[in-house]
Amino acid sequence: MNAVTHALSIEVNGRPIEAEVEPRQSLADFLREDLLLTGTHLGCEHGVCGACTVLVDGAPARSCIAFPVMLEGSKITTIEGLIDDPVMVELRAAFTREHALQCGFCTPGMLVMARDIVLRRPGLDAAAIRHELAGNLCRCTGYAGIVSAIQQVAAARAQEAPVVTRGALAPPPSYASPLTLPVAPSRAVAPAMAISPAVIAPVDDSEAAPPVPELLRNPVEITEEFDVAAPRATVWALFQDPARVIACLPGAQLTEPSDGNMIRARMVVKLGPMQAAFGGLGVIVADPAAWSGTIHGRGVDEKSATRVQARLVYRLEEQGENLTRVRVEVAYVLQGPLAQMSRGAIARDLAARLTATFAANLDRALKGGEIAAEAAPLDAGGLFLAMLKGWLARLFGRGGA
Ligand code: FES
Ligand code: FES
Repeated sequence: MNAVTHALSIEVNGRPIEAEVEPRQSLADFLREDLLLTGTHLGCEHGVCGACTVLVDGAPARSCIAFPVMLEGSKITTIEGLIDDPVMVELRAAFTREHALQCGFCTPGMLVMARDIVLRRPGLDAAAIRHELAGNLCRCTGYAGIVSAIQQVAAARAQEAPVVTRGALAPPPSYASPLTLPVAPSRAVAPAMAISPAVIAPVDDSEAAPPVPELLRNPVEITEEFDVAAPRATVWALFQDPARVIACLPGAQLTEPSDGNMIRARMVVKLGPMQAAFGGLGVIVADPAAWSGTIHGRGVDEKSATRVQARLVYRLEEQGENLTRVRVEVAYVLQGPLAQMSRGAIARDLAARLTATFAANLDRALKGGEIAAEAAPLDAGGLFLAMLKGWLARLFGRGGA
């Protein structure tokens, strides 16, 4: 039986491409097999090793788990398309100087990711580079040279302004700033936890007393915001009840009643085939005068031993008599096997999905609707499903995205 194919209009390395593709064909296979752009390598084919990294609308994405049928109209840039890119020219020279490759299999993905890193975070140090590179594996283990090369280019760009690109695989632009929670006098709330798994601090009962907030080292920083159709005082009142706030977070639940100053909670997050259940402790510090507060949290996923440290700053802004903007700024550090969840596109996708779901649940709660005690866990892989659904809806004309 003949395979069903679909017409695709896409741009690759500045060249318009019209093609017929099967829905199941990965972007990596399309680039390598159909366009003969074999600079994009395939390692794990599961979105883990980073060898297949390309740019989708300017942002790094794993081409082994992206599908051309969902990228209609997108601009794809492969390693071949960056041959004359000035930053890539610097990186290639630095990789050569520092002997930053052995077999070279990981190198295209490393270079594409390295370019994104030095553009986003010019001047960053070696530790931060290692953190940013956590999702790119070198089977030759040549990390010392790779990090050194990237650091040289980053240092040379230290005075440059950061360049951040949100690609098609990144969260929708409508959700792009931090969320903040208003806090009652000397009390804080838990809404921040809605934004990131890092916010749900780890459950470590050895820390009987609230931990002193620590300065996060090289954190992932994400800002989200959304509007709620309710007066600020009403939203504030809800935020004073950690149980109600936590109930708005997909996959989250309090593990014991909160006294308003501390939160013990658990949150499940799925990332494709992986699932993490972060349990931990959060300390709330409120600034009622500013309708804002801060939550410091630490936690661990006991199964993978991945540890998380997070800080969430929230603020409620009055936009009108019946409209409140919730802004949240989250900074977090992941250490351990699931550190790849810190990678830019994945972290932004998680943040956008958490925010969207939290905002919808919050709206429902403010209207008196019931929120399940523990909503289904967030699935970062849902990005793929959402895109697939949107594509199917368009294909069969049933509305949808
Ligand atoms: Fe795509 Fe490994 S081949 S991440
Ligand atoms: Fe061989 Fe990285 S240089 S996999």
